[in-house]
Parts: sequence; structure tokens; C-alpha cells
Amino acid sequence: MARPQRFQDAVVVVTGATSGIGASLARAFAAEGAQVVGTGRDQARLMDLAGRIALPLTLDLTRQRSVDAVAQTVLDRFGRVDVLVHNAGIGQFRTWSDTAVDDIQKVMDVNLYGAVRLTRALLPAMVERGDGVVCSIASVAGERGYPKHTAYCASKHALIGWSRALQKDLRGTGVDVVIVCPPAVDTPFFENAGFADYKAQHPGLALMHPDAVAAGTLDAVQRRAGQVILSPRARVLWLLDKLAPPVVERLQRWKDSR
Ligand SMILES: NC(=O)c1ccc[n+]([C@@H]2O[C@H](COP(=O)([O-])OP(=O)(O)OC[C@H]3O[C@@H](n4cnc5c(N)ncnc54)[C@H](OP(=O)(O)O)[C@@H]3O)[C@@H](O)[C@H]2O)c1
Repeated sequence: MARPQRFQDAVVVVTGATSGIGASLARAFAAEGAQVVGTGRDQARLMDLAGRIALPLTLDLTRQRSVDAVAQTVLDRFGRVDVLVHNAGIGQFRTWSDTAVDDIQKVMDVNLYGAVRLTRALLPAMVERGDGVVCSIASVAGERGYPKHTAYCASKHALIGWSRALQKDLRGTGVDVVIVCPPAVDTPFFENAGFADYKAQHPGLALMHPDAVAAGTLDAVQRRAGQVILSPRARVLWLLDKLAPPVVERLQRWKDSR
């Protein structure tokens, strides 16, 4: 007998479904029976998604009108959202002195305010129904600082802080918030952020596969886990950083000096 699908008929909105982790998430949720709404700005990649998911939609998270239009289309078509995945995000990797306020605002506009805009547009319907999951794809860079990451770390720390506070606000409503922190993942993310030689500069680093991030995220959403750190190595570092921050600091300095 076929295994029952874990998200049968669930309406799942995945932002940034046109690339990397988002594309894997869209495929994984669809494979588990979900009606996936996948969003992005890249029209060619959205066309590729058509046929594989229920509804590809153009969305620029930095534009309120675009966010409102997508929310309206989703609610008109499906009448509800079961899972809202804030996955779209951009990186920026420069030292602090090359990072102006405008640069940080640009990253925050997608990574934090984009999630806030879409949540404000879709969450009321979820709360009214008394069920659902909001899932923030954050990063291990939302838990600690990394060199040349001021803008990105600021945005992911902010996304985690916002998500944690939202967890508290939503207590008792039936809607849960899940925070997912992947380590470095093998996607076009670093190239898109102008860091094309990221892999070459980190020869020993085993990048996680985006399908593994998707699998971990589906598990976390199904369990309604408060927060998950993906990959055993990242989990150990995360725990060590909580318990003995100087040890991780020394490890990082040693690594950076090699
Ligand atoms: N790759 C990693 O090492 C890594 C590690 C930890 C966490 N993450 C996080 O995982 C998420 C996905 O990253 P990825 O690695 O899959 O990166 P990616 O391949 O560069 O994909 C980013 C996605 O975000 C979308 N996006 C960017 N700007 C947008 C905007 N203004 N409005 C709407 N959508 C926008 C892009 O779609 P369009 O271009 O079509 O708009 C694309 O689908 C991000 O939040 C990232 O911070 C990544």
C-alpha cells in the first residue's frame, strides 16, 4: 500500500521557489501531496515551475502591491493557507567598511521586511481558521556572527528574533512558527550575492544539498518544531556556542587564519 502523503491537499506557499532551496522545497511539498504556490521574480524559472506545482506566481517581496496581489490571488483561489514558507532571501558579503546603511537596508528589505509584509497579508486568514504554520528559513548566520557578513547576519538575526516573538504572539491561536537554520548550502546563493568564488575560498567545507534542507524543513513543519539547526556539525557548533562561546570563537579564528 502506498505511504500516505504528509501534506495531502495542504496549501503551501513557498517564496523564492525559482531557485536553490525554494525549488527543492516546492518539489518536496508537491511530492507529499501539497498544493504548492511557488513565487519569485524570474519569469523563465516561474514558467519551468508551471505543471510541477499548483500555482506559480510573480512576487517581488520588496513591493507592497506585489505582496498584496499575491495574497489576494492565493486566498481567492484556495480560500486558505496551511503553510507559509519564508524562503526568499539575498546575501551580501563585504567587510563592514564597504557596507553602507543602504546596503543593509537592501538585504533587510527582502530577508526581514519581505517576510513581515507577506505574513501581515496572509496571517489574519490563518489565525481566523485557527490552524497553520509560518516557517522562516533563517540561517546559522542568524545565530552567530561571521566575518564580512554584517548585512546578512543582521537580517537573519532579525528574522529569527521576529519569528521568536511571533511564536509568543500566536500562542493559543493554532498557528505555529517554525525556524529553520541551514548551514552553507550548495545553491546559486553566493554567486547571486557576488561571491562567485565562495566554494574555492572554502575548500574543506561540505555544502549541504538543497534537497536535504527541504527534507529537514518538511520534518520540522510536520512536527511544528520551534527551531531546527540542520546538519549534525552545525548543531554541535550551535550548542557549543551557547554553552562555551570562547571555544567556538577560538575555532573560528584558527580557521580564518589558515
Ligand atoms: N545557500 C546557503 O548557503 C544558505 C544557507 C542558509 C540559509 N539560506 C537561506 O535560504 C534561502 C534560500 O536561499 P538559496 O540558497 O536557495 O538562494 P538562491 O538560490 O539565490 O534563491 C533565492 C530565491 O529568493 C528569491 N528572491 C530574491 N529576491 C527576491 C525578492 N525581492 N522578491 C521575491 N523573491 C526574491 C529568488 O527568486 P527570483 O530571483 O526569481 O526573485 C530566489 O528564488 C535564503 O533565505 C537564504 O538566506 C541559504
